[in-house]
Amino acid sequence: MVALNRLTGHSPGFFSVYTLPPNQAVSVKAQRKINEARGQTPPRRRVAEIICRKTSQLLKDCDEEVCQTLSVARSGARLLTGDSTDTAQMPGGSVALVVTSPPFLDVVDYASDNWLRCWFMGIDAGSVKLTIPNKLADWERAMTALFRELCRVLRPGGHIAFEVGEVRGGKVKLEETVLPCGVEAGFTPLLVVINDQKFTKTANCWGVDNNFKGTNTNRIVVFQKRE
Ligand SMILES: C[S@@+](CC[C@H](N)C(=O)[O-])C[C@H]1O[C@@H](n2cnc3c(N)ncnc32)[C@H](O)[C@@H]1O
Repeated sequence: MVALNRLTGHSPGFFSVYTLPPNQAVSVKAQRKINEARGQTPPRRRVAEIICRKTSQLLKDCDEEVCQTLSVARSGARLLTGDSTDTAQMPGGSVALVVTSPPFLDVVDYASDNWLRCWFMGIDAGSVKLTIPNKLADWERAMTALFRELCRVLRPGGHIAFEVGEVRGGKVKLEETVLPCGVEAGFTPLLVVINDQKFTKTANCWGVDNNFKGTNTNRIVVFQKRE
């Protein structure tokens, strides 16, 4: 996972020469243009060192107690890949907390943004089934199906933290759609946290600099499964 996160980026802490931040793999053609414009040639990198450095950065806040807790949790941990509306491997009522962030309609093209990671892993990006509806009504149906599955796996009283953003230039506030989906599936909404952010380097790379385009604020809707 650390290697996947280090494939491409804008500093020597990544495997690549200077490019966009790691969540946006540019095409080969676009990268050649960046290399030409900056007069850069990809250098050889010490990949193992980069992975070790990043790993120790990620673990620096873990004291002995946290490490011990993690090592106990590890024995019961399961990593699944697949459609989140079909998690038959997880027994019903077995989960205390779900933290999730679904696609915000079709505003991000996950297949092309992840072509390099998929290539690295030997996965055909086009073969991955994604839920990226263009219409709000289709998104609402897909999210209600997801909430039903989350209701199955969560124990009574269990919680969901469901992150969404505002899209379509701020005209569509997805939390307004999510709230009734959760209620219909058996959850009580507890609160909505709104994060209204200042622009980051990543936002500027996307050409978002006017607090108008893209996703400028995001919200976490917290639900509890009814007893
Ligand atoms: C808003 S992003 C959240 C990314 C996440 N926070 C992360 O750091 O990886 C939405 C994610 O949902 C994934 N996705 C799309 N359709 C899905 C589905 N049917 N089941 C599970 N995940 C899906 C996308 O590939 C994308 O990674």
